[in-house]
Amino acid sequence: MIVARDRGALSDALEPLRERGTVALVPTMGYLHDGHLSLVDIARESADSVVVSIFVNPLQFGVGEDLETYPRSEEHDLDRLRERGVEVVFTPTVPEMYPDGDPIVTVSPGRLGRRLCGAFRPGHFAGVLTVVARLFGLVRPDAAAFGQKDYQQATLIRRMVRDLEMGVEVVTGPIVREADGLAMSSRNANLTPAERESAVGLSRALEAGADALATGITDAPRVLDHVRAVLSGFDLLELQYAEVVDARSLETVDVVREGNVLALAAFCGTTRLIDNRVL
Ligand code: PAJ
Repeated sequence: MIVARDRGALSDALEPLRERGTVALVPTMGYLHDGHLSLVDIARESADSVVVSIFVNPLQFGVGEDLETYPRSEEHDLDRLRERGVEVVFTPTVPEMYPDGDPIVTVSPGRLGRRLCGAFRPGHFAGVLTVVARLFGLVRPDAAAFGQKDYQQATLIRRMVRDLEMGVEVVTGPIVREADGLAMSSRNANLTPAERESAVGLSRALEAGADALATGITDAPRVLDHVRAVLSGFDLLELQYAEVVDARSLETVDVVREGNVLALAAFCGTTRLIDNRVL
């Protein structure tokens, strides 16, 4: 496995891979868990070689967000990627990624970026799309893998690739969860033991929403009442939003249909957690 820390090393490492066949990229911010590694496997199915990027992207963190406390552990990450048979890891520094400082021209997520998390994290999705576009430019992958854990992000990336004709095949993988249902996330490492106990409330609440639908309740506000009732039983969770949305437009729906997405965001102490479930 080649670890490329600058664009020169990256392009040298990519050359033989391109001669050999297709390349899939898995963009990450590191502190890797089984959710990330599942995307490596999915990427492997869609291309001959797999490149993983590890880069904590300052552009997608707002003022007062957790850029400084975002967990990092490069050695552990590289070991896990080596075990998984990854060909190249691209792990640039901030100046290597943005040699001219913050980019002037950025990718706008449009109205999709104002929905759900976008309403609470202004500029976040522009930061995500801009770094992903930049990674696509540096790696020029045939395919790229993203997790449904970040449902809005995956939706926006598909849309960007379509709207800007980027010619990258976007593949997505299901949410990988801990045994008790908590969606894996690098940020879970920042939870205290008591917060960790409350964090499971998110997946329990999604289950309650799905159960309500299964009993024939299709009125979205009523489904959300069931979701909120469960959440209120978990002391350390402070709900930011609970919505049922159309899978593509991300607009809220009044009547729940199959394929709609139930999406949640909540603070658990100072850690912001998200989860979702396709109904
Ligand atoms: P990060 O949070 O490190 O996630 C990297 C990828 O792993 C994303 O596609 C995310 O959806 C996926 N992922 C995270 N947790 C998962 C889980 N429990 N199950 C399945 N997939 C999971 O998302 C980002 O980084 C950044 O925004 C990035 C796209 C790298 C741009 O900076």
